[in-house]
Amino acid sequence: ITKNMKVTYLGHACVNIEIEGAHFLVDPFISANPLAQHININDIEATYILLTHAHGDHILDAEAIAKRTGAPLITNPEILAHYRALGIDGHDMNIGGSHRFLDGKVKIKMIKAVHSSSFPDGSYGGNPAGFLINYNDTTIYVSGDTALTMDMKIIPHQYKVDLGIFPIGNNYTMGVRDAITAAKFVETDNVLGVHYDTFEVIKIDKEASKRKFSDAHKRLHLLEIGATLDVSTLIR
Ligand code: NI
Ligand code: MN
Repeated sequence: ITKNMKVTYLGHACVNIEIEGAHFLVDPFISANPLAQHININDIEATYILLTHAHGDHILDAEAIAKRTGAPLITNPEILAHYRALGIDGHDMNIGGSHRFLDGKVKIKMIKAVHSSSFPDGSYGGNPAGFLINYNDTTIYVSGDTALTMDMKIIPHQYKVDLGIFPIGNNYTMGVRDAITAAKFVETDNVLGVHYDTFEVIKIDKEASKRKFSDAHKRLHLLEIGATLDVSTLIR
């Protein structure tokens, strides 16, 4: 068993984080993503499914994957109530709270995000959130859809963030410039960009975006859909 965290990008804002053979799947939106048609949702492994908020581009495939794998959801109380009515169970938490999963080995803290969170039918989806995921000495911060926020400055008082997984597509969320400032606020050198290119309005220039990060002495990682980043290889 390797003691590291591996992040596989599944398109849009979906990542699958592998820890000791367990899979923490975040925000599955695959079957309707034109860029992710080579990914079969029936092949995706999930031990837990984390949902940051209720927007369709974050929850689309959660029901199907949860029902196939039996993976419990980790999400806010309102989203969990919605899925409990569909026969899917899970663990609810709310902003500022943390809880240990996987026999206590993985600590997940729910972090405030500045966004909105209605279900596709308009019903209430609670407050949007991000997740700090901590395992051994390694911490990943999945911000979820969010604006740049001063609250991010709290995080490095308590955690050394090895990797930020931030939206960079602008329009609905942070763009590149704000994501660079977010990296400074949380004091991480490495950002995995998500939430870009899926729709016309969030298309980015990848090389120019990487250059802007390197000009700020940060590294922007952009993975092909289906590719994996081993967090232990990142320079600390
Ligand atoms: Ni959203
Ligand atoms: Mn979104």
